[in-house]
Amino acid sequence: MKTYRIAAIPGDGIGTEVVDAGVEVLAAVAKRDGGFAVAVDRFDWGGAYYKKHGRMMPENGRDLIRRHDAILFGSAGHPDIPDHVTLWGLRLAICQPFDQYANVRPTRVLPGITSPLRHVNGGELDWVIVRENSEGEYAGVGGRVHQGSPLEAATDVAMFTRAGVERIMRFAFGLARSRPRKLLTVVTKSNAQRHAMVMWDEIAVQVAAEFPDVEWDKMLVDAMTMRMVIRPQTIDTVVATNLHADILSDLAAALAGSLGIAPTANLNPERAFPSMFEPIHGSAFDIMGKGIANPIGTFWSTVMMLEHLGEPAAAGRLMQAIEKVTADPRFHTPDLGGAARTTDVTVAVIDAVHGANV
Ligand code: IPM
Ligand code: MG
Repeated sequence: MKTYRIAAIPGDGIGTEVVDAGVEVLAAVAKRDGGFAVAVDRFDWGGAYYKKHGRMMPENGRDLIRRHDAILFGSAGHPDIPDHVTLWGLRLAICQPFDQYANVRPTRVLPGITSPLRHVNGGELDWVIVRENSEGEYAGVGGRVHQGSPLEAATDVAMFTRAGVERIMRFAFGLARSRPRKLLTVVTKSNAQRHAMVMWDEIAVQVAAEFPDVEWDKMLVDAMTMRMVIRPQTIDTVVATNLHADILSDLAAALAGSLGIAPTANLNPERAFPSMFEPIHGSAFDIMGKGIANPIGTFWSTVMMLEHLGEPAAAGRLMQAIEKVTADPRFHTPDLGGAARTTDVTVAVIDAVHGANV
């Protein structure tokens, strides 16, 4: 029987609570399926590790997880450590060297969840945002001089390469083609940003020629926020830069009812490195340790992991179990207006995986 080796990196804040829940659910899904097993190695990297060792993960950290089949990540962020240190020291220190250039963020209004949009009941909002995950505004290029003096100057340079844009564009067109509507929206800001964003537009036209069966359109990012709110049913697959998609995906998560539900896959489509799966909600220190974090974002991320590992039946079963549980308000955590605890939701999903009546 195939055993998948999973590296679990809970990180900080509620990351530990939701990753523990995710590991339990993963074990239950494997047991129910019977066709594969999972072996989980846990790596306690993050803020506490930083306080002891002065870095977010060991120097050879990536070597320790390089041969795993997938990574389940919680969140990185600590109230005593600057956010750019935690981000660059752990999450980006894995994503970028492992060339997880395709960040995939599905958004859907799950059964039982209410969208803040009046006219949305479910089917009108079913999107996948593809975020460029290796360069652009997160390239880390820039500098700061004369710190503290009135002459201080700082730059953050967004860097785009033809190779980087082509591969994400091809990935997005391919994903759009795999979905029933075969519809892609390419988001840029090529009116104000007249170099790299214009290159995006040109590359979109070139790559589109390889996908004649995919219908596509272009939007400026500001207008896209409006379209997401006013005409959500006109959107299916979306591709955007690292920062634009970061912002759009928070809006998307809110429109789908809660940030606590939203999942992510950081994919290396060529499979030269393991891919990483994580909820998008972050460490949420305000509710840490209270046992009320919504684990659904992590469970849905686990569905994406199972799909990537090539276990579509197990992935489908888990997604069905998740939807069965969200449909029941007794299992809504406080972010959804309910009173359920992380363990209530976890137990309910595990029961549903085993086919019990929840
Ligand atoms: C996300 C998050 C991260 C990002 C934060 C935690 C740095 O907002 O995954 O969307 O900006 O990439
Ligand atoms: Mg974000």
